Amino acid sequence: MLSKKGTKAATIDTLLTEKRKFKPSSSFARQANAKKSIYTTAKKDYVKFWENLASELVWKKKWKKGLTWKAPDAKWFVGGKLNVTESCLDRHIEEGRKNQAAFIWEGEPGDRRTLTYYELYKQVCKFANVLKSLGIRKGDRVAIYLPMIPELVISMLACARIGAIHSVVFGGFSPESLRDRILDLEAKLLITADGGYRRGQIIPLKHDADVALNECPSVTDVIIIKRGDFLLRFKEGRDHWYHRMMQEADAHCPPVSVDSEHPLFILYTSGTTGKPKGIMHTTGGYLTGVYATTKYVFDVKGDDVFWCTADIGWITGHSYIVYGPMAMGVTQVMYEGAPDWPDKDRFWQIVEDYGVSVFYTAPTAIRAFMKWGEQFPRKHDLSTLRLLGTVGEPINPEAWMWYYEHIGNKKCPIVDTWWQTETGHILITPLPGVTATKPGSATRPFPGIEAKILDEQGREIKEGGGYLAITKPWPGMLRGIWGDRKRFIETYWSKWDGIYFPGDGAKIDKDKYFWILGRVDDVINTAGHRISTMEVESALVEHNAVVEAAVVGIPHELKGQCLVAFVTLGGETTFDDIISRQLRDFVARKIGAIARPERIINAPELPKTRSGKIMRRLLRDIATGKLLGDTTTLADPDVLARIQRRYEED
Ligand code: WTA
Repeated sequence: MLSKKGTKAATIDTLLTEKRKFKPSSSFARQANAKKSIYTTAKKDYVKFWENLASELVWKKKWKKGLTWKAPDAKWFVGGKLNVTESCLDRHIEEGRKNQAAFIWEGEPGDRRTLTYYELYKQVCKFANVLKSLGIRKGDRVAIYLPMIPELVISMLACARIGAIHSVVFGGFSPESLRDRILDLEAKLLITADGGYRRGQIIPLKHDADVALNECPSVTDVIIIKRGDFLLRFKEGRDHWYHRMMQEADAHCPPVSVDSEHPLFILYTSGTTGKPKGIMHTTGGYLTGVYATTKYVFDVKGDDVFWCTADIGWITGHSYIVYGPMAMGVTQVMYEGAPDWPDKDRFWQIVEDYGVSVFYTAPTAIRAFMKWGEQFPRKHDLSTLRLLGTVGEPINPEAWMWYYEHIGNKKCPIVDTWWQTETGHILITPLPGVTATKPGSATRPFPGIEAKILDEQGREIKEGGGYLAITKPWPGMLRGIWGDRKRFIETYWSKWDGIYFPGDGAKIDKDKYFWILGRVDDVINTAGHRISTMEVESALVEHNAVVEAAVVGIPHELKGQCLVAFVTLGGETTFDDIISRQLRDFVARKIGAIARPERIINAPELPKTRSGKIMRRLLRDIATGKLLGDTTTLADPDVLARIQRRYEED
């Protein structure tokens, strides 16, 4: 398709410009783990750069070669042998961090537990012995379906201790989703709990697991962790209580050294269509990548209290609760429940209580905090915070500014970190203390990472919009989709030759800063212009009346596609024709007439996945009058029905 400007079909017209820039303070820069020279060192020899970082970890046998690369297959630290738990546990015990808190955990009902590195080490060894007693061996797959309790970390590390491959299934997933994953994995064992808490409700995990297991013949044993006093059906012979088995287990378990390329875990992520993809990560490279990024992006030190609010069921929790921070030996906060339970200041209460210093959350959470109002953070002492991070979707500049002012008190740098389940660790990000940030930009590739903006044909775009591409291998890259080589190649490696395609649109500005525009299927071509739905959303939320917005493209006779905006209004504003017209004009003013939404739909809530991503695909189905797509990953399926009713009434 040709645009007005000729053959620029692959590029994305970017229309919003953000001029604000925030330089790191000299006091932060002085104490930062990363100095400016890190970029030049990495550029000289990127394999050597990663090798140096890998040497900071514990290896049983040193690798022979840093990298072998024949696209799409990378092998990092070839010939090396290690066990990740030695870097995450044993070495801290040997190096004087034995009695340091690894996790300060808080349950939603208010119960608290602190686990030192030594306590955690013993629990992991014991549980590894329990797994062995049930016949679990190196390479076996273990499915984990748990709430955010310390036993989730213990389970993952116990698997790693013996070379078993863990696959965590987010505790909010349905029995069907659990079943599909277990079937794909051919898992032998399931680790679950009697239940979990969420917003005061009990999630019946064991019950749901039983439903799933009716159709999973590969699972011969189930271990149940007792979280509360929840009712369950106990199947003799198959089911075992965690606490009973732990009582008898030996607290010594030598780590099984595995090859650097041995699979560490499989984590499922949904694609645009079809069944979820089991993203496979291996050992040496992954650990090096998460370790290095925790060290330099989150700048953690011995006296930090790090809190990543993600659920461990997602990649963010794997990389920045379990493996990265633990390899760094940091103290972390882990919280089981919802941010608005019992009240909307729960997070800030936690920050105050434990003196959290580095805080990592998602833009969708930040927008919720904005909507609830600044009176909630203001009630608490947040002065211990020194660094803030975001991940998961593009952050609109207004939310960035709110986070900066009301949470960071204008003194904390913000690291907007771009990465994916597939990339394993952060790839594009500011380095606090080095990089000047611009609200809404993930800034530059991490040292050792090469990213470019390419057009459809693979030509580089030096300034402007196009497709994000990662042009060199990196240690934590996915090694495949479990059991589906063809899909692996088609999804990520077939757009250009030997270059990774993450599926995101992005633009690069004159300072070589990257601005992620969202998934390319969220990019709309209207009247020959490609517009990111995110940019329109960002403009909409700048309007005082709008709290959150989702924009989709639907077919249009003249323009090819037009924009439909679903908006959540805040405060006193009621939805009517006047506000609808105002908003359309507002976008036209902010971005240009070509971005004016055709329709504005009132959506008091937006349909979201359990990880908080807006499901634009479903909104598109409503707007085009199509039957609804797969809604099984929705946090609250009723939201959709309500929006659809509103759409039809309009
Ligand atoms: C999006 C989460 C803009 C992006 C770690 C990516 C982002 C997808 C950012 C991966 C960011 C993640 N700015 N967009 N800082 N971080 N994304 O697999 O579209 O759950 O492809 O991994 O989230 O989501 P995933």
